[in-house]
Amino acid sequence: MGYERFDKVRAIAWRAGRLELLDQRLLPDQCLWLRCSDVLEVAEAIRTMVVRGAPAIGITAAYGVVLAARARYAEDPADWRRAIESDLDRLAASRPTAVNLFWALAVMRETIATIPDGEDPEPPLFAVAERIAADDLAANRRMGRLGASLIDGPADLLTHCNAGSLATGGFGTALGVVRAAVAEGRVGRVYADETRPWLQGARLTAWELIEDGIPVTLVADGAAAYLMAQKTVRWVVVGADRIAANGDVANKIGTYGLAVQARRHGVGFMVVAPSSTIDMATADGTAIPIETRDEDELLSLAGRRIAAPGAQAWNPVFDVTPAELVTAIVTEKGIVESPDAAAMQALMAPTAG
Ligand code: MRU
Repeated sequence: MGYERFDKVRAIAWRAGRLELLDQRLLPDQCLWLRCSDVLEVAEAIRTMVVRGAPAIGITAAYGVVLAARARYAEDPADWRRAIESDLDRLAASRPTAVNLFWALAVMRETIATIPDGEDPEPPLFAVAERIAADDLAANRRMGRLGASLIDGPADLLTHCNAGSLATGGFGTALGVVRAAVAEGRVGRVYADETRPWLQGARLTAWELIEDGIPVTLVADGAAAYLMAQKTVRWVVVGADRIAANGDVANKIGTYGLAVQARRHGVGFMVVAPSSTIDMATADGTAIPIETRDEDELLSLAGRRIAAPGAQAWNPVFDVTPAELVTAIVTEKGIVESPDAAAMQALMAPTAG
């Protein structure tokens, strides 16, 4: 099936030896690319959500390591391997929940260990960063095909946050399934939650689907249960920031509520994520670090205070959906239906040969 028609958006580019990021804080009003020339700029871009979405954060961090290695090697070719450790730490501190960040840094660290003394580290590290980006895109295309096969259409779908091209190396995880299902004629309407407070749904998901010619209907987050009660939505399709060893899923705040509502209404709940999002070292969702961001993100909108003066806010930006509420986890390694610890273990077991 040719998906190219629905796959034009990209958010990460390596141009002329620098990392360029489509500034997601400004979409959909402006399409501006921000150039990062050193690792500090890369870490800051992740922290401030110029780039966001678990796989995109991992890819960005990998390119950040390339920039760090270039600078450290130029400073002192004999000492770059020691000096780069503080750069890796700085990248790791940029956001806590998306495990793809730590996964990508571990891959880069393994590569660093294999580079012979005296050799310029930039070319081998760049090759690995490129491979991480290319593998992510390939995984998304495969997950798109697998996830779409679960949708007996034409069905309406509901998605949350942005798990699309903007959040990955391209094509998207949840939106990859949406793209593939649209291409295969399995979709009626695509509904997207606006996703308060950062509005990833209203600003980003709506923008990238429209860029690719896929009609999208926004709903307020609070409208999802009533939408499901109308009985046209057959699947909620979301991404993940971290999946624990027992199949519990951390994703954008509001995902857990959708899973509860989906169970109540007999709607399927599909989580789409590459294996780089699966953290077998974390036993269950209670051990996943959940990021809490500045209360101002809730108290203000578009830079203007909207909450009553004196009101405080609590702003956790992810939640954990228990595995028992998940119908299927779709990865590039295959589909896990009714996930639990044994099924996750079987999925992640090294394959022979
Ligand atoms: O805070 P964000 O925008 O980085 O959160 C993103 C999400 O929650 C996505 O659903 C998740 O990272 C999967 S992206 C393919």
